[in-house]
Amino acid sequence: MNCSLRIAGALFATAEFSFGQNVHSVANIFRPQATPADSVYNVSMLMLAICAAIFVVVGGLLTFTIVRFRSRKADDPREPAQVYGSNRIEIAWTVIPVLIVLVLGMATARAVVEVQNKRIAADALPVTVIGHQWWWEFRYPKLGIVTANELHVPLSTAAKPATTALRLESADVAHSFWVPQLAGKTDVIPGITNTMWIDPRQEGIFLGNCAEYCGMQHANMLLRVVVETPADFEKWTAGQKLDAVSDPQLGSARARFLSLSCVNCHTVSGTAATGTFGPDLSHLMSRQTLGSGVVPNTLENLRAWVKDPQAIKPGNLMPNMQLNSRELDEVVSYLASLK
Ligand code: CUA
Repeated sequence: MNCSLRIAGALFATAEFSFGQNVHSVANIFRPQATPADSVYNVSMLMLAICAAIFVVVGGLLTFTIVRFRSRKADDPREPAQVYGSNRIEIAWTVIPVLIVLVLGMATARAVVEVQNKRIAADALPVTVIGHQWWWEFRYPKLGIVTANELHVPLSTAAKPATTALRLESADVAHSFWVPQLAGKTDVIPGITNTMWIDPRQEGIFLGNCAEYCGMQHANMLLRVVVETPADFEKWTAGQKLDAVSDPQLGSARARFLSLSCVNCHTVSGTAATGTFGPDLSHLMSRQTLGSGVVPNTLENLRAWVKDPQAIKPGNLMPNMQLNSRELDEVVSYLASLK
């Protein structure tokens, strides 16, 4: 990736972008915004408190010892008195750590069980999350929606609780789904279906990432969770359910796109493009980023991506299609119409 793209990406990640939504740009586990994240937060605070207490005691004793028993004469050859075989001390430093580990272990187990055994409401929104090298596919089986990299979910309020129930699957290698402010990490393993759930209580965009090394672009396997009011969520689903826009003015651009091998990997609903290897492009322009969060989804970046995806995200599975500039213009103008 060249430098300006990198900078643009960094700015994009930290600034509120033009979508006007509140971007929780720092994925801060100390500001949980959903029940599973609360559990992680509570256990973290307990661990930190206990570790801080141990640090103070050990550091304090060490400092005291260094100062109190320091060598006072410049070249005193005598060794200090050596203490061996104190049963009382040895029992203390065995039993106390065992108790601490037990307390931490039990608190952790309790939090894990609380989250895992929670009975999911019957009206929870099911979403299948599929990890790919290196992007996320989100399928809403009840709604008939397929999208990528940006998971839209409804806001949960006291008056109208809303749970999203995630089924995690992998298309290739092991990944891990992690949105720190909403829940702990859950592994995404080939051949195994893991589950998790979230009930976000704050609107906005929550950043997450793949948390299991999965190859060259692991660090760029980013994701966003867009938490919306039920009304906004309805609006989004209504838009996503529609077939892709078919602007008659872009007939030849559309024909160009459909004539290329793009269609073997990508789906555009209502067309002959039905590939499922890459992200669904039916509503590409409703997404905020390209390449799973690598760059903002602007016309300029879209063009650069189609021209040479390897320049922006080296190693990703989309090849350079070697389009000439006319083909590139047509493909980009068609893609840009997919609102
Ligand atoms: Cu997927 Cu790391």
